[in-house]
Amino acid sequence: MMLRPTSNQQLAPRPVSWTLALMGMLIAGSCVTGCGKKATDGATEAGKSGAQGAGAANAGTAAEPPKPPTPIDRSMLGAFKPLPKNFDSQTNPPSEPKLRLGHKLYFETRLSRSGTISCNSCHNLKTAGVDLQPTSPGHAGKLGDRNSPTVFNAAGHFRQFWDGREPDVEAQAKGPVLNAVEHGLKDAAEVEAILKAIPAYVALFERAFPQAGKNAVTFDNFAKAVGAFERKLVTPAAWDRFLEGDDGALSTEQKIGARLFVEVGCLSCHNGPLLGGTTYQKLGKVRAWPKLTDEGRKKETGMAADLHHFKVPSLRNVARTMPYFHDGTTADLGEAVKLMARHQLGRDLSDAEVSLLVGFLDCLTGEPPAEWTETPELPAQIEAKPSAAAVIPAVRTPPAAVEIAPRQPDSVPHAPPGPGSSPPPPLPPADHVPPPPEK
Ligand code: HEC
Ligand code: HEC
Repeated sequence: MMLRPTSNQQLAPRPVSWTLALMGMLIAGSCVTGCGKKATDGATEAGKSGAQGAGAANAGTAAEPPKPPTPIDRSMLGAFKPLPKNFDSQTNPPSEPKLRLGHKLYFETRLSRSGTISCNSCHNLKTAGVDLQPTSPGHAGKLGDRNSPTVFNAAGHFRQFWDGREPDVEAQAKGPVLNAVEHGLKDAAEVEAILKAIPAYVALFERAFPQAGKNAVTFDNFAKAVGAFERKLVTPAAWDRFLEGDDGALSTEQKIGARLFVEVGCLSCHNGPLLGGTTYQKLGKVRAWPKLTDEGRKKETGMAADLHHFKVPSLRNVARTMPYFHDGTTADLGEAVKLMARHQLGRDLSDAEVSLLVGFLDCLTGEPPAEWTETPELPAQIEAKPSAAAVIPAVRTPPAAVEIAPRQPDSVPHAPPGPGSSPPPPLPPADHVPPPPEK
């Protein structure tokens, strides 16, 4: 392990000797747990990855005698906030029919060129709203160039996407459906034609958007229903219970990790209820980020000052949303934390400090209400209406051979999408909708 008491003094004024003492305590088995099973696991992990080299043997080499490790003080919590109950929008208020519709549309594979891709393919609600891939295979197995962020709590971000190019989840929801490497549909009219050809959807839209009468099936309303649904994907965690006054919600080592998070300076970018999602920041702010090719926000604004600026992601559920960063470069949370400290704050953390921070991040893991993460029943595709015959072929053949590359985390190639695109295959046959891919 590394101690850097001199060169980073101005950035890291606090000696790390107390963490050494703490790790000694952990080894001695005196850990206190309060974050459920997870915390015990986290403490064990901490013992494995950090404590071995950081225990009593090394403590003697520290410049100062170890001070007792200090848990976070409630006066230090000002820049954090508990999660709200939901992220409801005034311009797109929720209603029971709208939420039920949004839930179905989120899982709807018929809204894709191949009949196999839904939002849930890349943002699987059973795996913390991500697909656990560095970048995602979408239409015809083509890979995008960025990591899929989680949809959990995404509605609470100040902007959407790694570069913030869309303002909210409603605007965001229109993107993937028409994106050539995601759902791969042609335009809004095609989305509407597919939905109008499924009578049960027409009825569900009319119920969800009663003011629109017979014109309820629109691409805008599709986005509103999906957006309203996403606004319910809020994941309260032990951290929220702690912020609301329950001291027993966190273990002692997690409270020490929380203090470290504040004192090291993570908080300067990862703050608010989501511990992120409030600003854009330069990646490689203090030390250049290794092998950075994505221009980040500059791609969107064209401004030199925005080069390599990205939205600060939320750290909610980060223990489950690997791999990390806009390009999914590492699946190791400890490594991600180390890189952040080094490149964003100019500080090299000891293994023991990394373990404490990772233990703290564990307390940000939660689940949205179970009713929303279940796979809903999707409307059957009864006879297509004549008006949609141009879009939905009357004679239905099984989906043509548009194969989605198998999802194998270790073998996802990083090649750009190949040239040319396959011709649109017919839509899946009536009453034979393939289930969303299970992962
Ligand atoms: C083929 C994979 C894929 C599919 C399908 C897909 N997404 Fe995404 N999604 C991504 C990727 C990759 C990004 C990040 C792109 C970027 O930032 O440039 C993203 C970003 C997002 C974000 C922004 C989150 C944040 O933290 O900024 C939301 C919300 C989202 N998607 C929701 C959806 C919804 C809703 C659907 C279905 C209508 C959907 N996605 C379909 C891959 C996918
Ligand atoms: C100067 C601002 C800044 C500071 C300080 C900072 N971060 Fe970050 N953090 C970011 C940005 C920006 C990203 C997104 C990077 C990207 O797009 O690849 C990020 C990404 C992350 C990720 C990956 C999240 C994901 O879902 O991919 C983790 C984990 C993380 N930070 C933890 C920390 C920790 C722990 C600290 C303190 C040691 C810290 N950060 C300090 C700005 C910052």
